Amino acid sequence: MRDKTFVLKGDLCYSKDPRTLETVENGYLVVLEGRSAGVFRDLPEEYRALPLEDWTGRLVIPGLTDLHVHAPQYAFRGLGMDLELLDWLEARVFPEEAKYRDLDYARKAYGIFAGDLKRGATTRACVFATAHTGATELLMDLLEDTGLVTMVGRVNMDRNCPDTIREPSAKASAEETVRWLEDTAGKYRRTKPILTPRFIPSCSDELMERLADIQRRYGLPLQSHLSENEGERAWVQELCPASRFYGDAYASFGLFGGDVRTIMAHCVLSSDEEISLIRDRGVYIAHCPQSNANLASGVAPVRRYLDADLNLGLGSDVAGGSSLSILRAMADAVQCSKLHWRLSDQSLAPLTVPEAFWLATAGGGSFFGPVGSFAPGYEVDAVVLDDSRLKTPLELTIQERLERGVYLLEDRDVIKKYGSGTALW
Ligand code: GUN
Ligand code: FE
Repeated sequence: MRDKTFVLKGDLCYSKDPRTLETVENGYLVVLEGRSAGVFRDLPEEYRALPLEDWTGRLVIPGLTDLHVHAPQYAFRGLGMDLELLDWLEARVFPEEAKYRDLDYARKAYGIFAGDLKRGATTRACVFATAHTGATELLMDLLEDTGLVTMVGRVNMDRNCPDTIREPSAKASAEETVRWLEDTAGKYRRTKPILTPRFIPSCSDELMERLADIQRRYGLPLQSHLSENEGERAWVQELCPASRFYGDAYASFGLFGGDVRTIMAHCVLSSDEEISLIRDRGVYIAHCPQSNANLASGVAPVRRYLDADLNLGLGSDVAGGSSLSILRAMADAVQCSKLHWRLSDQSLAPLTVPEAFWLATAGGGSFFGPVGSFAPGYEVDAVVLDDSRLKTPLELTIQERLERGVYLLEDRDVIKKYGSGTALW
């Protein structure tokens, strides 16, 4: 435990609540057994004998959480961004994901994904793999080695996709999911399984019922997609005519929050009723602004979700999103909220940078427990940022440096990373 007990010194920035950024210049973050014992302007006597990690002059922020990312889509990020969701899935996503039957290809592609995720400012992620058990386990091995804490889903899909990627039946999909869970049970410290029905159009009623049964037996969290695109939403209504709205289709199978810790990506087009159910069931929304822009899905009313105190974080949604950077996702969230305010709904004020920072840290981090802040009791995931590359004659406050960093810093400016109080590299 010794390596998880130390003092971090630097220009500390973290959220006190969704609206308030706390900054401490030349502050001390005391880490005891991987958790914060508090942030201090002057180091209390009792902690002076602890090892000091001295990052004086550097910004130190909580690690960022990516609540929604597709590992097998990283290889073609930035390509084929001229289509909308359903055509893009057919033309780009399914043919690429079919390649993960080949473990050699998976090893190459997932190696690049895991390496880049490790290098950047993200310390926690909820990751979609594909419907291939072997490649999913390989991805879990690679992610475990990064030191990041992740949840990884073997994707379920038994309808409405080409034979190359469709599972042969609901029964086969469920059995293979159990095999995957049994195969990986107890194998990893930091990498956990998450149930991952791709979305309602990809999963038959029988498969959803079988997954609900697996969820109850194994107590798994769940991730999927919700109300991303108009064509998708209309299709779900056809496929599940008894459902009152898209989220109700998941709820009808017992797979929408409540006892099932759930993340739904997007919620661009959620109705008032759907938003009420999201709130009542404590469902997390993964807001993915870059993906929603690239696929021309629209802009999620994130101000509304924030003001309603919904569980909320940011997702890169690579390869809907072309960038894996959650710093970039913060800037995108602010910019998209401005366009939404200007063009669609003047009652929904744009997000501020401190609000976007909260989404990327404590907001999304809370899916993993007390994660994403330096307040006492939080697990210390921390990222050290060197903003000296961004030259200016101005004298900036810590908050201004952070604000500028959200727009301008890149992975190469991350100079040190800690996960649960351990240096990751
Ligand atoms: N809906 C179902 N599958 C996907 C996917 O891979 N990406 C996005 N953005 N939406 C989806
Ligand atoms: Fe997605």
